[in-house]
Amino acid sequence: MLLDSLKKDKEKIIDLTQSNPTECGFYYPKEEILGALSNSGNLVYSPASKGMLSAREIVSEYYKDKGYEVDPDSIFLTSSTSEGYLFLFRLLADPGDRVLFPGPSYPLFEVLTQLNDLELVTYPLQYDNWSLDKALFDEVSPDAKAIVVVNPNNPTGSFVDEADLGIINGSCLNTGAAIICDEVFLDYVFDDKAKPKSLVGNKTSLTFVLGGLSKALGMPQMKLAWIVVNGPDRLVEEAKKRLEIIADTFLSVNTPSQNALGKWMKCKPFIQKDIVMRVRDNKKVVQSMISGSNKFKLLEAQGGWYSVLRLSGSVDEEEFCYELLSKKKVFVHPGYFFDFSEGAHIVISLLPQKEIFEKGMNALCIE
Ligand SMILES: Cc1ncc(COP(=O)(O)O)c(C=O)c1O
Repeated sequence: MLLDSLKKDKEKIIDLTQSNPTECGFYYPKEEILGALSNSGNLVYSPASKGMLSAREIVSEYYKDKGYEVDPDSIFLTSSTSEGYLFLFRLLADPGDRVLFPGPSYPLFEVLTQLNDLELVTYPLQYDNWSLDKALFDEVSPDAKAIVVVNPNNPTGSFVDEADLGIINGSCLNTGAAIICDEVFLDYVFDDKAKPKSLVGNKTSLTFVLGGLSKALGMPQMKLAWIVVNGPDRLVEEAKKRLEIIADTFLSVNTPSQNALGKWMKCKPFIQKDIVMRVRDNKKVVQSMISGSNKFKLLEAQGGWYSVLRLSGSVDEEEFCYELLSKKKVFVHPGYFFDFSEGAHIVISLLPQKEIFEKGMNALCIE
């Protein structure tokens, strides 16, 4: 692959796909983060299937700050959101069953479904506001065991709106499917006035909300995430009992992270402020650099860490990305990577530091 050979030749690459926040020069309060790990409680192992109650109470506080009451008893800790998906696939589906995912969306989902011998079926989201098409959704939804919603979606940055949620809830009521709502980017909005809704408040259908430190604190290395179970009481109680057996089998969350969670969450305002400022500033760079361009159109987005650019004319997106990398050493992702079905797109991460980002954008925009 071109990228590998450039790296082998020690070529300097401007990586506009960078998604690892720990590589982007963000401010992490080092003393507080590392100090929280120095805890004598870490010498003791007290296994708890859902995770330690003290840590689940902190997750409950996270939602309280957003105006939601979440019972710690309905929270399950996992080592990552990806692991949360695996637990839920085991809970909700048998090999060969179908799970619905939005398209475009995050490529990891294909691998996650394959690892569980499930069939991934896409329900298309349509621009200009990335809402779902009811007719197309109705075609694919009848025999699905779970419907995945990504709120806000990666990379489109769109939140699930009331109309779409109504369609999804209606389908779940008819078919008995459950909702898996991935909210890892919930805290990241481009406009302060926007108040995105979490599906931890969705009582209509059996709903599992995923969140975690990889995005909420920009600390994927700490390996702490969660699942919130919510919905009609009887379904919730049954799901919790069965999910507890799965979680108890692995007991995968490490004790130090659980003990440190309270202190780490106190760092959230500082860490998030830095990340939010970066993604907003970089988005402004994109807007100003492509304004008046007949080559690119920036697609509307409400949140997340990414921007999507539509390429004008009959450009082949893969060729475009290959040329950009080989000639200008700038790495971006082509839209097909995220399952964009129509038109040519590129996806860029808004995380890189200003100088790197501007250099990459300059190279992208100049003929
Ligand atoms: C939408 C979405 N969900 C889940 C994940 C994975 O999160 P985790 O590191 O908690 O497994 C990612 C990673 O980028 C993501 O974009």
